[in-house]
Amino acid sequence: MIHDQLNRVLRDVRISVTDRCNFRCTYCMPAEVFGESFQFLSHFDILSFEEITRLTHVLVKLGVVKVRLTGGEPLVRKDIEQLTAMLAQVGGVDDLTMTTNAYLLPQKAQALKDAGLRRITVSLDSLDDAVFRRLNGNRAGVQQVLEGIAAAEQAGFSPIKINAVVQRGVNDHTIVDLARWAKERGHIMRFIEFMDVGNLNGWRMEHVVPAREIAQRIHAVLPLEPTERSYRGEVAMRFRYQDGGGEIGIIASVTQPFCGDCTRLRLSAEGKLYTCLFGTEGVDLREPLRAGASDAELEQIIVNTWTRRTDRYSEDRTALTDDAHTRRKVEMYHIGG
Ligand code: GTP
Ligand code: 5AD
Ligand code: SF4
Ligand code: SF4
Repeated sequence: MIHDQLNRVLRDVRISVTDRCNFRCTYCMPAEVFGESFQFLSHFDILSFEEITRLTHVLVKLGVVKVRLTGGEPLVRKDIEQLTAMLAQVGGVDDLTMTTNAYLLPQKAQALKDAGLRRITVSLDSLDDAVFRRLNGNRAGVQQVLEGIAAAEQAGFSPIKINAVVQRGVNDHTIVDLARWAKERGHIMRFIEFMDVGNLNGWRMEHVVPAREIAQRIHAVLPLEPTERSYRGEVAMRFRYQDGGGEIGIIASVTQPFCGDCTRLRLSAEGKLYTCLFGTEGVDLREPLRAGASDAELEQIIVNTWTRRTDRYSEDRTALTDDAHTRRKVEMYHIGG
């Protein structure tokens, strides 16, 4: 086990497998910026499956037990089920999971399950088709995501978590519908406070619906009670329905930050390590990987990066100066949340 400067161990890694996505969510890859001519990373720039798997072996040696695949959109990476199978073979990975927009799940869900993916989380910000389309740059309707979720159910993923980023005045009027729908189907709905990730989403505090308000609004219609986190460092606060019909999670990174227990390392598609979602600079692993570094050398780079870590952006956010707020942060589509 390795500890950072705030005594947090390294336990999970979120691996971005591509910077590309078939959606254009306004808060992540706004269509005005990510148009036809936008230059995404080339095939050579991004880590190969072998490189990702090798790094995962090294990370497991250092204490990682949980791996989450993200993007961009992880399912647009060609043959993602092959990488999934390779990672499922890495001894010591207890939890292998993925966060996806579900668009390609009808084609991929069964193959992912067969490859050894344990869990799946689907992003769906609203059940109102017009609201959802506005949010994703009109790349998909609700129906397509529901078909993806149905495919995941059929493949045997259970329970499925559904993530909705809540923005005031945009989709917050649809959260109770989402909660009711998920409850009826046995999915775990998770509401996420809109965060100031990256530099492109025009984040303002007025857009955030605080977790307390989200909980109250749902509780008024579907009574809730708080429950324990299921594991130390879980980002979601959990609430269960008083009628015994399941649970929801609320991720309050803005109003109730959880940096104190943050055990997550992020690996970008081009092979950079980020020790925080709000990081500015990554530590490159691709160059040493391709220059023939040994496992011990790669391990040393990761150990050095983690043991120097002091990040606690969300806890510092309110105290940050304007200058710190405007510093160039890594974009969400590079590290997948
Ligand atoms: P579980 O493994 O099921 O607990 O999933 P998770 O909540 O760790 O992963 P998911 O990809 O579903 O993330 C949910 C939301 O929490 C996303 O908006 C993430 O960006 C956000 N999130 C995850 N990890 C962190 C983190 O370390 N810091 C902050 N600020 N937000 C995070
Ligand atoms: N604030 C909160 N959550 C976000 N996500 C993407 N951008 C933001 C943001 N600005 C969510 C996605 C996905 C997860 C990985 O992160 O919707 O569910
Ligand atoms: Fe794609 Fe997810 Fe970003 Fe939306 S939030 S553009 S689905 S990577
Ligand atoms: Fe971890 Fe950074 Fe998120 Fe805090 S803001 S929980 S340090 S990733």
